[in-house]
Amino acid sequence: METFQSCLTLWDSGTLSTNASFTKLFDKSGKFTYHCAIHPGMTGSVTVRTADQTRIKIGKDIITANPKRLPITLNLSGKDPNKVYLGSYIVNAQGGCVDCHSCPSYAAGHNPYLGEPKQFNAPVYLAGGKAFGPFTSANLTPDNTGKPAGVTLAQFKNLMRTGADPHVPGNTLQVMPWPVYGMMSDSDLESVYTYLSSIPKVTTQPLPAACP
Ligand code: HEC
Repeated sequence: METFQSCLTLWDSGTLSTNASFTKLFDKSGKFTYHCAIHPGMTGSVTVRTADQTRIKIGKDIITANPKRLPITLNLSGKDPNKVYLGSYIVNAQGGCVDCHSCPSYAAGHNPYLGEPKQFNAPVYLAGGKAFGPFTSANLTPDNTGKPAGVTLAQFKNLMRTGADPHVPGNTLQVMPWPVYGMMSDSDLESVYTYLSSIPKVTTQPLPAACP
């Protein structure tokens, strides 16, 4: 028989018989430690995260946890890390940007489509170069001034919302799923932009022939 008590006395399971269970619903995020009142050495903790905290953690783990899905070093200088990692989540776990903007998308020996353990192709990560008929995906990595794809935040939001080509006035981007991405909230788009500002710069865009 055990009885589990929260260290902050938020809950007390009472005495539990073998195989009995105890449920506690959390309405706040945080780390909650507990111990057994009979065997004080038996301790544990429960971590409760908000939806955004969960997305931020996954976005960070993609780059920093093992196995590394994306072995790059981010430039966090002057940036809110939470925004960067949320952007990582949106780009890497939801947006599928890598499918069109990295060529080839996966590192040698790490192509999940071949049953290999997944790892993005870090040296050409988001450097573009994939051909879609007459169109080639753009290099999204930061330019010399740190602007991803050489665009300002205002240009970025505008192209994601309206498809307006930032380099050719009057032209509309034809391949980019901007009609979908454009429905993101302002703050999500800002997180994507902040993340793209923090990834390593790749100067040489791969040739379309390099893509499978
Ligand atoms: C289906 C393929 C595809 C996907 C998915 C995709 N893109 Fe693109 N993107 C392109 C292509 C191709 C271009 C070049 C312009 C065009 O659409 O013809 C482009 C252009 C861009 C540009 C304009 C850059 C410039 O210099 O003109 C930005 C910024 C961009 N993409 C960001 C993203 C982001 C961020 C994501 C993920 C959230 C993403 N793209 C997902 C295919 C894609």
